[in-house]
Amino acid sequence: MASTAPRITVIGTGYLGATHAAAMAELGFEVLGLDVVPEKVELLSQGRAAMFEPGLDELLARHVTGVSGATGRLRFTTSYAEAAEFGDVHFVCVNTPQRHGEYACDMSHVDAVIESLAPLLTRPALVVGKSTVPVGSADRLAARVRELAPVGRDAELAWNPEFLREGFAVKDTLHPDRIVVGVRSQRAEDLLREVYARPVAEGSPFLVTDFPTAELVKTAANSFLATKISFINAMAEVCEAADGDVVKLAEAMGHDERIGKKYLRAGIGFGGGCLPKDIRAFMARAGELGASQALTFLREVDSINMRRRGHMVELARDAVGGTLLGKRVAVLGATFKPDSDDVRDSPALNVAGQLHLQGAQVTVYDPKGMDNARALFPTLGYAPTALEAVRGADVVLHLTEWREFRELDPERLADEVAERHILDGRNALDPAVWRKAGWTFRALGRPTA
Ligand code: UDX
Repeated sequence: MASTAPRITVIGTGYLGATHAAAMAELGFEVLGLDVVPEKVELLSQGRAAMFEPGLDELLARHVTGVSGATGRLRFTTSYAEAAEFGDVHFVCVNTPQRHGEYACDMSHVDAVIESLAPLLTRPALVVGKSTVPVGSADRLAARVRELAPVGRDAELAWNPEFLREGFAVKDTLHPDRIVVGVRSQRAEDLLREVYARPVAEGSPFLVTDFPTAELVKTAANSFLATKISFINAMAEVCEAADGDVVKLAEAMGHDERIGKKYLRAGIGFGGGCLPKDIRAFMARAGELGASQALTFLREVDSINMRRRGHMVELARDAVGGTLLGKRVAVLGATFKPDSDDVRDSPALNVAGQLHLQGAQVTVYDPKGMDNARALFPTLGYAPTALEAVRGADVVLHLTEWREFRELDPERLADEVAERHILDGRNALDPAVWRKAGWTFRALGRPTA
């Protein structure tokens, strides 16, 4: 790439930022990643990420300066001065968690980035927000950049929401299904077209919008996905009452192309660092804008989702004869979804916690999420393998659909448990196979399957 190519910084190196930084280096740019946590910077500087994300360590190792055989296009720092001096385009990738005790999101990390970076911008720069923020934030932050940057109008803001899914973050970043940029100048649009030239050439649609639309695309898309999941989970509740089978129902509905099969997997519902907090922050923001009525349905989406967890606990209680007190429960899965080590607002871990509070002796096993789970719920029991987790169990709960769990041998597990009861919270196991090995099998939304 010519030396005139824009130099890129990525501020915040969590799931989003670490992946974005590595992907930008993969696209051929010189990249400087910044994080305020020195331990993260140290680890990344060795070509390793602080979290598990398929393909990410390999991508980092391919580009991080100092790693043998690497291109050296990617470095990390804790210094804002270095980042401001280095970059032409600064991507803001810090998180916006739910505020404690409120629906609204906590903008303090994003605000801190702008307050730290903008006063150091002495040369032309484009600050590009990627974090998920309440609509209206970009307008406010653009004004702050203008006020604070010594370079004046040559420092600008743009908004470029990120749609990556954990577990597919590398693929989603290198081959996005769309690129949305909220811009206020041709220069900003041109720079972002240059940054994303390769994915655009490969066919990713590039959509140019105003600030509020760019911010809304992200929250609207996540709200739609959450609604789709809660819709099928509401149908699961009806199937429970009517002796239907939600898996067959979803399959049949999905053949209608207007509906589609994806995001119609009924189970214990959605969790993670995005969907739950994003729909709540969206409701809170709509309220501030005087448009809360438009989003009251999201309240229902949220409560359908949270009910799933309680329902799973009830099924477990029924399976062990009406009381959980002193019963041994094996929980397979702790992460909010497979191929991730993320346990933030994980339905699986939440169910495990509720069972524990009701007096059960809970033992959890997860292929990648053990350390994070232990840190969040230190009072639960943990086992190093699925086989050890189910040892002596009165009931086994399948709560995160890792491939490893689909490949378990029910015959082998049957020798370890006290009682052969399996509950499938993700509708991913084959009832026939488990029943054949002498298990009672129960899944959410398919009482007769
Ligand atoms: C989500 C969005 O998909 C992504 O575009 C956005 O950028 C961030 O939020 P992510 O949080 O990684 O991504 O997870 P996702 O794959 O969407 O799954 C979210 C939750 O929904 C998981 O707990 C998953 O188990 C659950 N889910 C998903 C279902 O219960 N049923 C489904 O059919 C699909």
